[in-house]
Amino acid sequence: MDREIERFLRRLSFVAIAIASTILILLFLQTPDTCIPSDAPLKPHLRFPKSTCEFATRVHAPLHKKNERLWSTRDWNSKVKSFSSAVFLPLRRFGILANNSKVLCVSAGAGYEVAALSGSGVEDVTGVELIDSPPLVQRADPHNLPFFDGAFDIAFSARLDEALFPARFAAEMERTVKPGGSCVVAVAECGDDEVREVVDLFRKSRFVSSSNVTLVGMRMTSILMRTNKSS
Ligand SMILES: *[C@@H]1O[C@H](CO)[C@@H](O)[C@H](O)[C@H]1NC(C)=O
Ligand SMILES: *[C@@H]1O[C@H](CO)[C@@H](O)[C@H](O)[C@H]1NC(C)=O
Repeated sequence: MDREIERFLRRLSFVAIAIASTILILLFLQTPDTCIPSDAPLKPHLRFPKSTCEFATRVHAPLHKKNERLWSTRDWNSKVKSFSSAVFLPLRRFGILANNSKVLCVSAGAGYEVAALSGSGVEDVTGVELIDSPPLVQRADPHNLPFFDGAFDIAFSARLDEALFPARFAAEMERTVKPGGSCVVAVAECGDDEVREVVDLFRKSRFVSSSNVTLVGMRMTSILMRTNKSS
């Protein structure tokens, strides 16, 4: 009896090994579907994709419908408007932002600031966030931006406050902005000492101005810095 059980168990383990090996071989043989972008990237000079899959389009009809609904809500429009009036209109008045500026919005969330900039006529706006919201915001780690040095005229973020590594976050904004370009951040409303602390994170920039603003219903301080001409 014992011998029979032993033999049965041994046979069972042989079968198990055979099944496991087969699955393993199948996994080896089955290469992932090659993924060629069906449409060309919008700004190929600005990014180095980690894989060819990154450009695979994910925009489909339901998403399009969802966006149309979202963008027609009063909440969306008031938030977009608040970015325009609190941050971007002043930047235009300062002569820093123009329609031909290349602007990067870091940690852009759902893309209010991207919509505000595009809506005002800025032609080259890029929004990134850990979780993408196509078509306004693409996925990228703010601590490791997939853009060349000096690719933008202006980098903006309203989320420096929430950054895991604020110094790294700031350094990446500076790196992707051209020498003499601008870094603009909106942080929770604060006084001069805290403004200085924020500016200190931007090691290659100097303070230009700050102002208290209301952004998406919150009191915030908008800080404008200019990156050094020679870095
Ligand atoms: C920027 O573009 C918008 C939309 O095309 C236009 O209405 C506006 O006049 C432009 N601004 C400047 C300063 O050219
Ligand atoms: C902005 O608000 C903070 C806190 O309320 C205040 O300390 C600071 O003086 C204000 N800054 C300006 C420029 O009004």
